[in-house]
Amino acid sequence: FFENSTRTRTTFEIAAKRLSADVINLNISTSSANKGETLLDTADNLAAMQADMFVVRHASSGAPYLIARHMAATGRDHIHVVNAGDGRHAHPTQGLLDMYTIRHYKKDFSQLTVAVVGDVLHSRVARSQIHALTTLGVPEVRVIAPKTLLPTGIERLGVRVFNDMREGLRGVDVVMMLRLQNERMQGALLPSTQEYFKSWGLTPEKLALAKPDAIVMHPGPMNRGVEIDSAVADGGQAVILPQVTFGIAVRMAVMAMLAGN
Ligand code: CP
Repeated sequence: FFENSTRTRTTFEIAAKRLSADVINLNISTSSANKGETLLDTADNLAAMQADMFVVRHASSGAPYLIARHMAATGRDHIHVVNAGDGRHAHPTQGLLDMYTIRHYKKDFSQLTVAVVGDVLHSRVARSQIHALTTLGVPEVRVIAPKTLLPTGIERLGVRVFNDMREGLRGVDVVMMLRLQNERMQGALLPSTQEYFKSWGLTPEKLALAKPDAIVMHPGPMNRGVEIDSAVADGGQAVILPQVTFGIAVRMAVMAMLAGN
């Protein structure tokens, strides 16, 4: 993990151990990556220790793909590479565990209205969620965000865009909140986090516009009082901690399927 993580790193580790794998958790802050070793040299050295699988989190989009391509090009395509979140690009296992969570609570994807809310521009999670939701046939996927936090052409992914949170939340079955990613922002995209919370924070009053049995999801880590009110995060409609628990089974499934090939 070349970037901080609590949920993904820990649930991958638990999942791998439950599958009886030996797990090496490379602490990048104390590794030789910190002395100028390249990503591919680090991967080569771990491969030389007979690693069968890499689970990679990196701040740069494409890093896990670079490792996978390098392994294949050097005759080591038996080494599997799992993307655990790369830059703004994708977080595939988060997308999978989110779909598992929706299926657990809502059973059927074919009648749902799902809203993805917040900082879509910087979110790898949003991209994987939208891809999964449209693939599974969700008839209405809404994206709710200020214009400054939306990538251009997002409609081409098959979503309906709302720039008003109250309008966008009306009648939805699932609310998928996103973290405001201050660390990825360059320039002034927002007036302040207080202003953001006023317009885009999920409060009980805004959640009341969704269906009464709507569920609230968040990939974590949450910024309480920025994108979500504590009364919602800790409320009866939140399924945020079950998402984390389901992540173990989903990551076990991903690794077992790869190791079985
Ligand atoms: N959802 C998620 O990726 O959380 P972490 O950054 O803690 O792994």
